[in-house]
Amino acid sequence: MTEILEIWGGHPLCGTVEIPSAKNSVLPLLAASVLCREKVCLEKIPQLSDVQVSLALLRELGVSARQSGNRVLIDAERDISSSLSTEMMRKMRASVLFLAPVLSRTGAVDASLPGGCKLGARPIDIHLDGLEKMGATIHWHEERLYLRAPHGLKGTEYTLRCPSVGATETLLMAAVCAKGTTVLHGTAREPEIMDLADFLNTCGGHITGAGSDTIRIEGVPSLLGGTYTPVPDRIVAATVACACAAAGGCITMHGVQAELFEPVLEVLEKAGCTVQRENESVTVERRQLLHGVGLVETGVYPGFPTDAAPLLAAALLQAEGESCIRDTIFPKRFACAEGFSAMGAQVQLEGPALHIYQGKAMHGARVRAQDLRGGAALAIAALGTAGKTEISDVFYMKRGYEDMKSLFRQLGVKVRTKKK
Ligand code: EPZ
Repeated sequence: MTEILEIWGGHPLCGTVEIPSAKNSVLPLLAASVLCREKVCLEKIPQLSDVQVSLALLRELGVSARQSGNRVLIDAERDISSSLSTEMMRKMRASVLFLAPVLSRTGAVDASLPGGCKLGARPIDIHLDGLEKMGATIHWHEERLYLRAPHGLKGTEYTLRCPSVGATETLLMAAVCAKGTTVLHGTAREPEIMDLADFLNTCGGHITGAGSDTIRIEGVPSLLGGTYTPVPDRIVAATVACACAAAGGCITMHGVQAELFEPVLEVLEKAGCTVQRENESVTVERRQLLHGVGLVETGVYPGFPTDAAPLLAAALLQAEGESCIRDTIFPKRFACAEGFSAMGAQVQLEGPALHIYQGKAMHGARVRAQDLRGGAALAIAALGTAGKTEISDVFYMKRGYEDMKSLFRQLGVKVRTKKK
């Protein structure tokens, strides 16, 4: 049984939406709460399947963790277990973020490799190399991973071989209660990294430099707890902005700052949208034909975000003129190209680059989501295409979007879900 999203597209969007907290900040914060000896309350948390997986992983460890509305309450005061099941680990990439906090808290962690969207090889070598440099020993047995640090983790100076978001988060969480000082070089600079550092500091950590490529962490014996509201979701905001570009119309997003997704807004302006930037809101409007934007390359923050690459591609299917989007982060970012072609789009996938040509009118079709952002991109393509499009395997989108049907209904779209 799979759920199908039916979208009747080809009409301009109009309305306002509230941007939720960022999935890619909430997930590390939930893992980091393992380090907190007092209660943690996270506010404005969207109902996402990945959040439910994180709460289940916390409960596997013996941590009290539940979501009530858009508030998450966590209590990790009592001693915790150090074993994470393969079944839960395999459900998402962010499960890897539990390794460091559990190892730091208990001196051991037994786990497996994480799951996650199939965007190409997604090794965790930098996570593990950094933990080894901080005193962990690592053993593999029958696809299970056993990390030990019986005398605790110790501060070190470490350079990441590439600015991995997850590895930066792992090493931040490993260092915050390590013995001594840690200096990390070549760190990722995403807003979600700054958010994790702010959260850990709120709970008693001593971290400086997050958001730059060098982060210094003075280890503290343990963390307290606290209440925290994560940063807004810049990729959900990019999704809404690209939806407006694809279908036309005017959408105001409340609760988000333009600078979080400025590279996306700049490309949409180049394609013919108008953007109004206020303190805590952004309005995107598209009244004229979109035009192609030539080559767009993704990059680590503050470059064009890899997660928005399929979203922008979906909008540019409606453009006069050619565009090409090349993902420099993940080799298999454009699985959604198959669905675009089924809708009549003229696209050509060459390795990590998707070429988009001005084609004849697109049409509704039956398509299948193959990953989170690719599924969202198919929905954007459907919004810009006259007729009915059916998207199956919408469970992928539920990982990162609270309720896509309600979101589009708020914007005047005729949309329905059905089981098949
Ligand atoms: C995070 O994934 C996000 N996920 C991804 O969002 C996002 O696309 C990605 O960062 C890049 O911005 C979460 O935050 C939960 P990386 P992550 O480590 O941490 C290589 C979404 O749609 N690498 O920055 O896994 C890796 O293979 C998801 O919300 C190593 O080689 O990304 C990739 O090529 C999709 N060794 C590159 O680094 C390592 O140890 C960037 O990966 C780690 C990473």
